[in-house]
Amino acid sequence: MRKTNHSLLHLLLTLTLLLGSTKPDPDPLQDYCIADTAEPSYMNGAPCINPNFAAPSHFTTSVLSEPGNTKATPLGFSVKLTNITNLPGLNTMGMTMARVDLDAHGLVPLHSHPRASEVTICLQGTLLVGFVNTSNYLFTQRLRPGDSFVFPKGLIHFLYNEETMGPAVAMSGLNSQNPGAQLSAVAAFTSKPSIPDEVLKKSFQITGQDVMRIRKNLGG
Ligand SMILES: *[C@@H]1O[C@H](CO)[C@@H](O)[C@H](O)[C@H]1NC(C)=O
Ligand SMILES: *[C@@H]1O[C@H](CO)[C@@H](O)[C@H](O)[C@H]1NC(C)=O
Repeated sequence: MRKTNHSLLHLLLTLTLLLGSTKPDPDPLQDYCIADTAEPSYMNGAPCINPNFAAPSHFTTSVLSEPGNTKATPLGFSVKLTNITNLPGLNTMGMTMARVDLDAHGLVPLHSHPRASEVTICLQGTLLVGFVNTSNYLFTQRLRPGDSFVFPKGLIHFLYNEETMGPAVAMSGLNSQNPGAQLSAVAAFTSKPSIPDEVLKKSFQITGQDVMRIRKNLGG
């Protein structure tokens, strides 16, 4: 009897933890909480300005109207994000928008967002997108303008422009005001301080020379 109770408690605890980890950002307690970004914030989000000072401009941004610089990386991509600095009305709303620009054959490399799912719509170009689930199965699609695709929270994904000549553009929505992004290759090979070579050699079944070459290629 005691044993059963124990297992039940364990199951309930596990369920609570699992449900907890899939929750989006917490709900706001106000209509809005225009981010006060004047001071650094050490709380979970940013404090609000006095709501009497809220203005329409706090709810608008042109940050996604222009492409970013796709030449800043050899992969030929750029991602521009709304955040509480360029769109302070977004604070506590639990969302972010992103503009993704890709050169011909440009790639947003394997990455994941620890705090958000993402839905993307292809506006221009031909996008090969995909994510890998936790059973290591790849879900992949080819998107043409108007097509959308969902990348579930935390799963590794990519976007690749298959056009040989033209650029591609996509807009994404993410369900956190701070989705975070972790690039798989960059995290593994260029972290500071470095992950020990022995760990990388074993993890990827490669030699020390391979480790050095990949580090160098990734600018680490
Ligand atoms: C918001 O993004 C801009 C670049 O568009 C960056 O300079 C700024 O530091 C970001 N703010 C936050 C709070 O991440
Ligand atoms: C991943 O996808 C494969 C193929 O649909 C499926 O068999 C597997 O159960 C999925 N894993 C999870 C954890 O959803």
